[in-house]
Amino acid sequence: MTALLSTTTGIRYPVDQPRWKCDAGGILDLEWTPVIDPARISRRPPTMWRYREAIPIGDDASILTFGEGFTPLLRQAIDGREVLLKQEYIFQTGSYKDRGASVLLSKVRELGVDSVVQDSSGNAGCAVAAYSARGMISCQIFVPEGTSPAKLAQLRYYGADVCQIRGSREETARAALLAAESAYYASHSWNPFFLQGTKTFAYEVCEQMGWKAPDSVVLPAGNGTLLLGAAIGFNELYGAGLIGALPRLIAVQSAACDPLVRGYNSPDGRVPSVHAQQTLAEGIAIAEPVRGSQMLKAVRKSGGRFLAVEEAEIIESLQLMARLGFYIEPTSAAVVAGLRSYLRDCPRDEQVVCPLTGSGLKSTEKLLSLLDGDGP
Ligand SMILES: Cc1ncc(COP(=O)(O)O)c(C=O)c1O
Repeated sequence: MTALLSTTTGIRYPVDQPRWKCDAGGILDLEWTPVIDPARISRRPPTMWRYREAIPIGDDASILTFGEGFTPLLRQAIDGREVLLKQEYIFQTGSYKDRGASVLLSKVRELGVDSVVQDSSGNAGCAVAAYSARGMISCQIFVPEGTSPAKLAQLRYYGADVCQIRGSREETARAALLAAESAYYASHSWNPFFLQGTKTFAYEVCEQMGWKAPDSVVLPAGNGTLLLGAAIGFNELYGAGLIGALPRLIAVQSAACDPLVRGYNSPDGRVPSVHAQQTLAEGIAIAEPVRGSQMLKAVRKSGGRFLAVEEAEIIESLQLMARLGFYIEPTSAAVVAGLRSYLRDCPRDEQVVCPLTGSGLKSTEKLLSLLDGDGP
């Protein structure tokens, strides 16, 4: 049976209703067991929709796609170690968020919903806006002040109604939640269908490695959409007997906003409230991640860990990657900084995968100011 399961009350709700939270106001997960058939998959075009039976959209006519996914997995030497980099900025809107938006907006179309609201530091908003445009669905996107001008321009060109909130990322989320009282909330952090798209990251990694999982995967930890999606994907593949072991999930935060690192290190395992400081890694500066305890659980279950990176490490990794030909945005460089920190103390023969999550073209102003020596 496919159902929306309340993580607060355990109550199940049907999936054919436009519901994004339970009656008690809690988070919903999607409950279902996908069918996975590698022989059929291998005959299909190289997009994330090759895992069609594992994506919970009933009717093909509802699918909103730009042919996204199956991004390259490249071998690259970093600090003398060979790693596998998955180029997750090679998407229609310039970040991996398109995986989630493709499935979520397909679900929106299947539900017959014609307008959505969403809040974001920029990239998830751009993805929701582009797929809304594809489906002729109207969308209102809330973003905090200080959002990169390139992301704002992109949102407006897609035709989104952009509401810039004077305040923090958390105040922006609260404004969107208010608007969501009377509209469908296509939130990447709340809506479980978004994770059904990001999980295809794990499917692709394993297929590209010959239906085998890496030893570990280094991932960003903001709202955890890639982290939790990857955890779902790897667990589904393991459950289906397609991979023999689960990878360790290594989750990276900015030291300027690290509630999960603190929760991971605290004796009671609770995610504390933190006051976010200024950071170059705007995409992971989430002081109150709504799925924070799920992220802690997923990382612990995998045998992985959380780690924090400093601003200087982000800048150094940004420069290193650019010199290797990868023009990525600072949030993406924070994950690379986490990768480098992890490589310093993991066994040399460990096979490590790391996504490059966002294009540098989204952060021209920040990147120019770093070149000019102005700092963030
Ligand atoms: C480029 C980039 N990388 C990583 C993230 C982290 O997101 P999450 O933890 O929700 O997967 C974001 C979020 O906006 C982002 O824009």
